[in-house]
Amino acid sequence: MCGIVGAIARRNVSKILIEGLSRLEYRGYDSSGVAINNEEGVYSHRAVGKVQALKDKFEVQPLDGKMGIAHTRWATHGKPTEANAHPHFSGDDLALVHNGIIENHEPLRRELKDKGYEFKSETDTEVIVHLIHDAMKTQPDLLKAVQVTLTKLHGAFAIGVVQKDDNDRFIAARKGSPLVVGVGIEENFVASDQLALLHVTDQFIFLEEGDVVEVSRDGVSIYDAKGDLQERPISVFNHNIDATDKGEFRHYMMKEIYEQPKVISACLEGRISESKVLTSCFGADSAFLKEVENVHIVACGTSYHAGMVAKYWIEDLAGIPCSVEVASEYRYRKVAVPKKTLFLTLSQSGETADTLAALRMAKELGYLTTLAICNVPSSTLVRESALTLLTNAGPEIGVASTKAFTTQLTALLITSVAIAVENGLSAEKEKALVQALRSLPAHVNDALLQDAHIKEVADRFANKHNALFLGRGTMYPIALEGSLKLKEISYIHAEAYPAGELKHGPLALVDEDMPIIALVPHNDMLDKLKSNLQEVAARGGELYVFADKDTDLNNEENIIFTEVPKVDSILEPIVHTIPLQLLSYHVAVVKGTDVDQPRNLAKSVTVE
Ligand code: AGP
Repeated sequence: MCGIVGAIARRNVSKILIEGLSRLEYRGYDSSGVAINNEEGVYSHRAVGKVQALKDKFEVQPLDGKMGIAHTRWATHGKPTEANAHPHFSGDDLALVHNGIIENHEPLRRELKDKGYEFKSETDTEVIVHLIHDAMKTQPDLLKAVQVTLTKLHGAFAIGVVQKDDNDRFIAARKGSPLVVGVGIEENFVASDQLALLHVTDQFIFLEEGDVVEVSRDGVSIYDAKGDLQERPISVFNHNIDATDKGEFRHYMMKEIYEQPKVISACLEGRISESKVLTSCFGADSAFLKEVENVHIVACGTSYHAGMVAKYWIEDLAGIPCSVEVASEYRYRKVAVPKKTLFLTLSQSGETADTLAALRMAKELGYLTTLAICNVPSSTLVRESALTLLTNAGPEIGVASTKAFTTQLTALLITSVAIAVENGLSAEKEKALVQALRSLPAHVNDALLQDAHIKEVADRFANKHNALFLGRGTMYPIALEGSLKLKEISYIHAEAYPAGELKHGPLALVDEDMPIIALVPHNDMLDKLKSNLQEVAARGGELYVFADKDTDLNNEENIIFTEVPKVDSILEPIVHTIPLQLLSYHVAVVKGTDVDQPRNLAKSVTVE
């Protein structure tokens, strides 16, 4: 979604800002812009499409200055046009960039129009810059005018504002949308995430909800929502900077698929011994494990699919009830919370607006405690949850989640076993599960060995318009995840069903043009699933079967077989995910889509 970068330095900042925008490209956007302050005023370039279009404008007409703000826009109010791209101006005095949505922009726009303000865009953002301008008529200090303005805004936002004739500071603020301060030497920055600033600093301050920050060359002054000056700690970014590099791979997505054995190991490290789950991984307060009697899991998209798998694990291993719900539904209904229920959120980014809103609501509902399984240590979700289990996957740049998903599953399996131990799981069974977990990175590595074969399978897919994914048990959420991945990056319409539901409707779709992707684990559902496949074969459907050798399935008429490593059944959902990621990736490459930044999608969904 929208990305913000701001910079003030003793050097020209235009290249710093544009590099920052390039680093934010992965978040998803459709236009971009920069405003630069210098002695003559505030000047801007805006462009539709990729950041390259903005760079082209700088080539033709460079803008130099030692302070500026920049933005990538993901359209919400108004089409992706140059007029709607940020920065937005009030006269030539103020320029502003904004991430988020101002829900009461319509009445505010009417009020401002009545006062004589002219609007040049269809955006909700433009009201903010005019409101600040209006506030400055009675309160000429920019910082104070911003503080007054923020009290009038409903919704979620992060903003950056510069003023003509004030080249020594800019103002930024956050409420509901992420914003981080980057601390340099005689230069300081803000951005929507740390990755945007790794070319200039590794020291960051995470702003809290409602914070307003005055950023100058010599330092930053942070005011909380009440207007009181606050000290916030500086954190050092400790990921290898190469994590944001594609390395030998053509796309981030492929790099991230191949990183999975390594990051799953990182997720396991320090969380299991030879035979036990180390409950210290939940922090000092792991006592909740003894008390929990129910689990509510809330998440969105791929993270929701990980939660669906965990429901099978928690109910099977721990024998306690577990429900899973998408955050955008949960947050708008009256939820009945049984006693001693754990509220568990899952999120790669930790900034997903619906998941955060669900967490905030849950905190008022008397849950036992809140646990976030998340990939970004500095995220809002982590900071606002009582307990955290980090997935340790490292930055995920591709919009389509891959390594974040398999590490979420790994963390969820650790959590499920930990809860199960307190609910009567035997030491012997715990040891077997821990040993299965220890073998996981090697099995994921083996699954990757099918890459060349899957690339050939993908060629048969390129001309398809629809696909149907089938699975039973824990393979059903994996079928959902496989279909999401395929539609996200190849734009092929795909659906997923529990295989037993086939004859209750979707069988009507099956003909020789409909590929059926069947996930066939080697467990007690095997014979039932084989019958479902017969039903498809009998109707001429083309079957793409993913199974291990022991299932006795193989290449035969109407069956395109892909071997998946034979593993302990508890690991099957994780290992079966790998070939589906590879299939989607290769289909998208054959189709020539933008694999890492699929159309209309954003990496971090910070608005509703
Ligand atoms: C996954 O490929 C998608 N990009 C999307 O469904 C994503 O999982 C969802 O938006 C939730 O994001 P989160 O994990 O950062 O909360």
